[in-house]
Amino acid sequence: MAADALIEIRDVTKTYGAGETAVHALRGVSLRVEAGEYVAVMGSSGSGKSTLMNILGCLDVPSRGEYWLDGSNVARLTEDQQALVRGRKIGFIFQSFNLIPRTTALANVELPLTYAHLRRAERRKRASRALALVGLSDRADHRPNELSGGQQQRVAIARALATGPRILLADEPTGNLDAHSTDEVLGMFDQLNADGRTVVVITHEHDVAARARRLIQVADGRIVADEVTRR
Ligand SMILES: Nc1ncnc2c1ncn2[C@@H]1O[C@H](COP(=O)(O)OP(=O)(O)O)[C@@H](O)[C@H]1O
Ligand SMILES: [Mg+2]
Repeated sequence: MAADALIEIRDVTKTYGAGETAVHALRGVSLRVEAGEYVAVMGSSGSGKSTLMNILGCLDVPSRGEYWLDGSNVARLTEDQQALVRGRKIGFIFQSFNLIPRTTALANVELPLTYAHLRRAERRKRASRALALVGLSDRADHRPNELSGGQQQRVAIARALATGPRILLADEPTGNLDAHSTDEVLGMFDQLNADGRTVVVITHEHDVAARARRLIQVADGRIVADEVTRR
């Protein structure tokens, strides 16, 4: 196993259910992502993109195959072990933001830090810093329903960044955003990647994919194309 791949999966399959109703969401996917890459994953609905992201993000385990994350074998972890790995290494961004509704922006950003054994003051400090990074210090006390879609997604980005992960995984992050907010969010991804974070973005929008430097195309549970699109 080469030491330099941050993410390496080998011949990963994922089957939901069994017997006649089994769904083969991934049918043998191998992929290496080096630290600092900016990768877009495209494919039609149902092609297996979210399944792939859930496995890369240790939200789910493969049915078969290997997964090496940052040099460790994570293909067969228990749920508790997965949670630990996620907390240390990965930040997630979802299409629907997934913020907690009746809670302030700051408290939403602080949430992943509650598992990090930090004192309250330190959690506050880190959450405030993450909110500042996405330009929302002045919205710290606002609840999600008092924020625009673009602002909510920026809070979600701050939440993803709060624990200082090396990897950002985003599943259709601009799917619910207008053109202006999409630009803001993509500008942030550019910046985060320029700062050295590894970014993987799932999208079916070509202009979103075009911001990445590598494009992986998925169809029917397989990678059908993988190319460097920009240096
Ligand atoms: N939890 C699940 N249980 C059963 N089938 C699932 C589950 N999650 C996804 N699938 C199926 O797996 C296939 C791939 O889904 P998904 O990875 O969500 O695709 P995409 O994100 O590309 O739209 C689809 O046929 C979907 O219906
Ligand atoms: Mg999906």
